[in-house]
Amino acid sequence: MTKMRAMAIPEAGAKLQLQEREIPKPDRREVLIRVQACGVCHSDTMTVEGHAPGVKYPRVPGHEVIGRLEAIGSEVDGWQIGARVGVGWFPGSCGYCSQCRHGNAFACENVQGATGVSRDGGYATHMLAHVSALARVPPDLDAVESAPLLCAGITTFNALRHSGARSGDLVAVHGVGGLGHLAIQFAARFGFRVVAINRGRDKEDLARSLGAQEYIDTQSADPAAALRTLGGAKAILATVTDAVAMQTVVGGLGINGTLMVIGAVGSLTVDPLELLRKRAAVKGWYSGTSVDSEDTLLFSQQHGVRSMNEIFPLEQAQLAYDRMLSGKARFRVVLKME
Ligand SMILES: NC(=O)c1ccc[n+]([C@@H]2O[C@H](COP(=O)([O-])OP(=O)(O)OC[C@H]3O[C@@H](n4cnc5c(N)ncnc54)[C@H](OP(=O)(O)O)[C@@H]3O)[C@@H](O)[C@H]2O)c1
Ligand SMILES: [Zn+2]
Repeated sequence: MTKMRAMAIPEAGAKLQLQEREIPKPDRREVLIRVQACGVCHSDTMTVEGHAPGVKYPRVPGHEVIGRLEAIGSEVDGWQIGARVGVGWFPGSCGYCSQCRHGNAFACENVQGATGVSRDGGYATHMLAHVSALARVPPDLDAVESAPLLCAGITTFNALRHSGARSGDLVAVHGVGGLGHLAIQFAARFGFRVVAINRGRDKEDLARSLGAQEYIDTQSADPAAALRTLGGAKAILATVTDAVAMQTVVGGLGINGTLMVIGAVGSLTVDPLELLRKRAAVKGWYSGTSVDSEDTLLFSQQHGVRSMNEIFPLEQAQLAYDRMLSGKARFRVVLKME
């Protein structure tokens, strides 16, 4: 019988290792996906380095998956073999446990937790997913080009549309990296006045070409003061990977402004007076559900939002992961299986 290949983490902190495995059979409400592409995300460090509690090893990371259905479980309705599907962090919901009924399917024990963390993900030729974790992929979206939309895309798209900002509002995107370069494109297409914020000027032209009307270089200006000069931000999407850097923008919020914390950084200290004087808020945001993924994919297809990617074969997943960690990739790193 043909086997599948996976790049798995044998134990927390170890290197990715090529493993040959039996191709698993889907349970009654699961599907088997033939993976075509999987993005490599900064958040994969949770699995690779063991930051997420309760991860069992060996574990296959990867939560930016696009592929085709190769087999379906006995109780799966509405999906055909060959269908194009996307899977992100969202592991699906069982529909009846108390967590799912409260809308927190990430904690559902019946679907075994987040993709690539507590169940195997997409650094592989094949993977299983719960049927409710599946997003439909529009036919003309290229798998490799679009894989990052399943995390970097959905996270920024969803956070922006839940930030309270409306067309014409000043919205800042802090960090012009994998998430940030998509966030700028979404924000521009939502009709916001978009300000990109990054250290140095080397990404300014690109940020402007993606839709930013203003650019703040944090090495030559205090970003909070610069945002206040522009009127104060209704939303700041904070995608940087450094807590000290993130803290420097909080004072740039305008009246009723919200800092959407996306970057998984250490502790932030926020001055309560800064918040209460402006009725401002600090809010965390994680990616979203399979429906949100579908919205992201469709919106991206209709409005030409594209991830800029560096592509690696599956077997070079360690190289790809190191490249992502270096912060030098322009902008997302994607594993291509076929
Ligand atoms: N909330 C969620 O659901 C979710 C989903 C996906 C990812 N994330 C998290 O989002 C964050 C961003 O991921 P990414 O893939 O976009 O990362 P990335 O591509 O490496 O981009 C990181 C950005 O942070 C900036 N940065 C890094 N260190 C900095 C420092 N010391 N001072 C100032 N700026 C600094 C970088 O600036 P330069 O351009 O100058 O290097 C770059 O703009 C990660 O923490 C990731 O885990 C969260
Ligand atoms: Zn991610």
